[in-house]
Amino acid sequence: MGSPHRIGIVGLGFISKVYLETLTAAPDVEITAVADLDRARADAVAGALPSARARSVDELVAAADVDVVLNLTIPAAHAEIALAAIAHGKDVYGEKPLAASFADAQEIVRAAKAAGVRVGCAPDTVLGTGVQTARAVVDAGEIGRPVAATAQMVTPGHERWHPNPDFYYQPGGGPLLDMGPYYVTALVQLLGPVTSVIGAGSRLRSERVIASGDRAGERVPVDVDSHVTGILEHASGALSTLTTTFDGTATKAPPIEVHGETGSLGVPDPNHFDGDVSLHALGGSGWTPVAPRAGIAGAARGIGLLDLLRAADGVAPRASGDMGLHVLEIMTGILQSAASGSRVSLATTVERPPLVPFAPLA
Ligand SMILES: NC(=O)c1ccc[n+]([C@@H]2O[C@H](COP(=O)([O-])OP(=O)(O)OC[C@H]3O[C@@H](n4cnc5c(N)ncnc54)[C@H](O)[C@@H]3O)[C@@H](O)[C@H]2O)c1
Repeated sequence: MGSPHRIGIVGLGFISKVYLETLTAAPDVEITAVADLDRARADAVAGALPSARARSVDELVAAADVDVVLNLTIPAAHAEIALAAIAHGKDVYGEKPLAASFADAQEIVRAAKAAGVRVGCAPDTVLGTGVQTARAVVDAGEIGRPVAATAQMVTPGHERWHPNPDFYYQPGGGPLLDMGPYYVTALVQLLGPVTSVIGAGSRLRSERVIASGDRAGERVPVDVDSHVTGILEHASGALSTLTTTFDGTATKAPPIEVHGETGSLGVPDPNHFDGDVSLHALGGSGWTPVAPRAGIAGAARGIGLLDLLRAADGVAPRASGDMGLHVLEIMTGILQSAASGSRVSLATTVERPPLVPFAPLA
């Protein structure tokens, strides 16, 4: 094995813990630097990780011992950190969404291409056995020509469990930009790129109350729509209907269903890596389970970054910046349509990355 990929992590909040687990278990990765606005967080992580030094963000993005910057900050900071890393010639992989605005995301992709560095973007859950097995069924023609999909994300809101939920109710947040990346990326994996969207949105309350942690009882303002629904017209002609809400309680609807000329497919939660896929063939006797046949088994957050690190020279990562940009344009297009009342045509497209072969996490 050659020298390890040297990672610097910016943003050491809630989701960093699972990334740290995945990356410290990977034999070809070394975390050399960590940074957070809250220096105590960086000191604590570095104290538990002998390979890593706590640094300021400016030091980390410029550090000679960092090849790739993993950006786990809040959405409003994604672009600033990614662009700083790119300016220092580093590859970047970031949490979703790629940026809080489509213009910022375009700038990240443009700057990375100009600098000759790679950009990866969550979600990587869609590289697990759940969505990949469903895609293998669609690609094999087992539901015939795909006609439509439905996707539903219903929750009463993340302030019930997240100790610092402010960003979920600010521009760059909301149910669509926060949870939509899982569903929209899965829909693009299953049915291909999208050419136009129609959207509508609403807002149940102007404030939310934090339910856990040190700030329990504190109110946070709601500056975005907390219920957003959209129609996605895929280049193939298939139509997806998407609902994302922080204003509902629960749902019994499957996370995603895909309907084709000769069958319907049940797709598990795209916010998880695995889950049950089921197929109802036209004329068949009912829903039958589909055994995993594609995707990384036993995966966790971080596999998209490992895919980027391990991709041969010139091969695009599967959880790519181009995918993140297209998914963000779909979502911001839905919000733009909701505001204007008009259908929005999209400027970007993306090629579906190759199907992930069925294999355990390495
Ligand atoms: N919480 C989840 O379950 C979850 C799941 C998947 C993805 N995500 C995504 O992960 C990202 C982070 O979410 P989180 O829940 O960990 O948030 P968090 O608020 O718990 O952590 C974010 C961290 O980033 C730091 N930070 C913010 N701005 C910074 C800046 N400019 N420079 C350096 N550090 C900065 C904060 O101090 C904090 O430690 C978001 O994009 C979110 O959408 C979260």
